[in-house]
Amino acid sequence: MGIAEKRVVGRWRARLWSGAQGRVLEVGVGTGLNIPYYPPGTEVTAVDLSPGMLARARRRAAAMGVPVDLRLGDAERLDFLDASFDTVVATFVFCSVPDPVQRLREVRRVCRPGGRVLLLEHMRSDRAVVGWVLDVLNPLAVRMGSENINRRTLDNIRAAGLEIVEVENLWSDIFRRIVATP
Ligand SMILES: C[S@@+](CC[C@H](N)C(=O)[O-])C[C@H]1O[C@@H](n2cnc3c(N)ncnc32)[C@H](O)[C@@H]1O
Repeated sequence: MGIAEKRVVGRWRARLWSGAQGRVLEVGVGTGLNIPYYPPGTEVTAVDLSPGMLARARRRAAAMGVPVDLRLGDAERLDFLDASFDTVVATFVFCSVPDPVQRLREVRRVCRPGGRVLLLEHMRSDRAVVGWVLDVLNPLAVRMGSENINRRTLDNIRAAGLEIVEVENLWSDIFRRIVATP
């Protein structure tokens, strides 16, 4: 994962974050792997459900000298007023959360009209055979502790009331960068 993170996913993160501006919320910050890519001039608040993940993100932010407001928070009910952020970013979060449509509605609520929702996600392939294989393997993957590998994330984004403005296939049509707006 170290090499893939540096050489491949790091590039995806950099590209995603280049679209962030103004007041930014990162949902599901994890250990803070996105922190090196926060654009200068942005004001980032980042939440995660897990205190352990947040502690690691805090250490990373401190080591890098990146200012970020790290908070315990649940995407099910984000503790922010409507339209609080210019940009909301999440990477590899909506494959694992229960009821992703409800969580994406929360994302839409806290993003201002005309703002940007930037997502990096892996999801079910639209290609018939690959999609079928992912459907078959998903119960096994979840039982083994993995995230879901067959989420229909673009459908979920639309069902949450977000408008998709850009989709970039990064690795086949399984890993994608998505730009949406409330
Ligand atoms: C697969 S990790 C991705 C972490 C990070 N975004 C990255 O790209 O490395 C998913 C993260 O989402 C967090 N998470 C899961 N459900 C959440 C929720 N309901 N609200 C906030 N964070 C959540 C997990 O604790 C975990 O840190």
